[in-house]
Amino acid sequence: MAAGVMLLESSVSMVAPHQDPSSPLFLVNRSYRVSSRYVPALRETQVPGQVRRLTPEAATAMEELFHACLEETGITLISVSGYREYDKQDRIYRRKLKSVKGDQEAADAYVALPGSSEHQTGLSMDIGQRDSKTALGEEFGTTAGGIWVRDNCWRFGFVIRYDLGWEDITGYAYEPWHLRFVGKENAEKLHDNLMPLEEFLVLERTQILLELMVPWTDGEKV
Ligand code: DAL
Ligand code: ZN
Repeated sequence: MAAGVMLLESSVSMVAPHQDPSSPLFLVNRSYRVSSRYVPALRETQVPGQVRRLTPEAATAMEELFHACLEETGITLISVSGYREYDKQDRIYRRKLKSVKGDQEAADAYVALPGSSEHQTGLSMDIGQRDSKTALGEEFGTTAGGIWVRDNCWRFGFVIRYDLGWEDITGYAYEPWHLRFVGKENAEKLHDNLMPLEEFLVLERTQILLELMVPWTDGEKV
């Protein structure tokens, strides 16, 4: 790769990690969309359940999370939906819209428009608890598995992306089942700060830019 391109990529990654698809902070939401052709590198996560592909790093972290949940609670989690390509998201959105009789606001509260779903990044997975009918329902958040996931997912680099009370910022209703990989260091900070990814990224970018600013004293560079 040309040195100029590499420099540009590393600058984007540092100052705007939310725009860098290789960053665990890559942001996809209603405002930041990905192209219909965007397909990340993927691998099948070795966990029970279906639709199990994630990016390799997220897959390994998810395997660790499932394993720890089983070890620490005896509960088996299942994958319900990991990576989804653009066309699949399109089909899911249309199906949801039909089920709510064309009420776009109701559909938008739960299902992202194609191109604006984190599932297309390979960094997110919807999970449930095996032997429970609570998959993809708010009740999952009150099951022993759901509570363990809420309290512990940060240890493995994940966050509950659409938490209760964040609806106005994330744009989505409470989804205790939707895990988003952000990397261990970021997940710990997000967990400590109790804030959604959108707010965290503003904070991170401000800090990075402040560090990059050259200090001036009496109008002279120091
Ligand atoms: N349920 C989430 C918002 C999605 O469709 O990506
Ligand atoms: Zn989801």
